[in-house]
Amino acid sequence: MRQNVAILGSTGSIGTQTLDVIDRIGSSHIDVLHLVANHRSPRLDEQAKRYSGATSAAVMVDGPKCLIDAVMDPRVDTVVVAVSGAAALEATIAACVRGLRVCIATKEVLVAAGALVMQLARDHGAALLPIDSEHSALFQAIQGYGPDTIDRMHLTASGGPFRTWSADQIQNATIADALNHPTWKMGGKITIDSASMMNKGLEIIEACWLYGLPESRIDVVVHPQSIVHSLVEFTDGSLLAQMGYPDMRLPIQIALLHPTKLDTGIPRLHPTQMGTLEFHAVDTAKFPALELAREAIRTGGTVPAVMNAANEAVVAGFLAGKCTFAQMHGIVAAAMDAVQPLDPMSLTDILDVDAQARAYVTSCLENHFGAS
Ligand SMILES: NC(=O)c1ccc[n+]([C@@H]2O[C@H](COP(=O)([O-])OP(=O)(O)OC[C@H]3O[C@@H](n4cnc5c(N)ncnc54)[C@H](OP(=O)(O)O)[C@@H]3O)[C@@H](O)[C@H]2O)c1
Repeated sequence: MRQNVAILGSTGSIGTQTLDVIDRIGSSHIDVLHLVANHRSPRLDEQAKRYSGATSAAVMVDGPKCLIDAVMDPRVDTVVVAVSGAAALEATIAACVRGLRVCIATKEVLVAAGALVMQLARDHGAALLPIDSEHSALFQAIQGYGPDTIDRMHLTASGGPFRTWSADQIQNATIADALNHPTWKMGGKITIDSASMMNKGLEIIEACWLYGLPESRIDVVVHPQSIVHSLVEFTDGSLLAQMGYPDMRLPIQIALLHPTKLDTGIPRLHPTQMGTLEFHAVDTAKFPALELAREAIRTGGTVPAVMNAANEAVVAGFLAGKCTFAQMHGIVAAAMDAVQPLDPMSLTDILDVDAQARAYVTSCLENHFGAS
């Protein structure tokens, strides 16, 4: 069956890899109807040119309204959510309410509003398919098994650039150090989150919502080779892992096509090429963001939305040279204390605490950390 796709965040790392996958699948299966980014750029213009001949691609720029307009096009049946950050929240909600296939890379949306998004997806028959490689691995491993058969889930983590650094060395990490991820080439925000391991904290919350488990049943294991993308442990003790190269194109293809399997030529990993696979416990004292995320989802309500927004703002601040790598954690924790939690919550509540958390971090960076 043909699919008509809107790609939210088409110029980013996931967006461009999505277009590569769509090219491999072929225009007889998938049409690109909308490409949305935040800025007009040569890459966006090039994409528009490339897809305007074979398809009716419409290029949109500048924020939430464009994202929602693309999703609301009645011809669109599949949305790829690949915007960096919670800016895609309202568009994802619109896609769920329309009952579309929602291929979601943007974990921040589920962190900020997991309860709401999951409820709307259920109510309106939307299919929410994870693109994050860990969550795609879990999704693949549980096919055919009921929720009662799952004991725990193990998210693998490369450990990022600071896996072997001491806590003291991390104190002095530069922007270039933090952007130097050993196995994945990704956008700036997720790369910094990987260095602090906040990315894994966000993924714990993402897994809680996608698979209906409490955080206490989602473990993190450091696996530097990034070959095993995650594991499911069943109630009988059996452990199922999904393996492959660290290449986002396969999880993107699975989200677009599941349950169809197509050979699109994405490089395959032969077992003899795997080499030695290592698994280590994570050092939570060195990476305190993990416990912060666990605390946020345990507390629930709007607290994860506050943590997420504060983290987005502080990562932007770090990349702009306004705080050090080691200061980020304390600022996010302070924002979680400062913003009044709300429970139960609506979209308005979430957007409200999100704005408060960003304002809090901005003021922190300007007043306490000597913004330039
Ligand atoms: N990269 C990966 O390998 C990977 C893996 C797993 C999950 N993810 C998740 O996927 C998401 C995207 O990551 P990424 O690495 O692809 O990020 P990225 O390379 O920074 O790309 C972000 C994309 O979002 C667009 N964008 C940002 N804010 C927007 C807004 N307000 N309105 C419209 N478009 C906006 C950007 O447009 P401009 O180019 O115009 O700024 C760009 O196209 C993140 O949530 C990340 O956690 C990524």
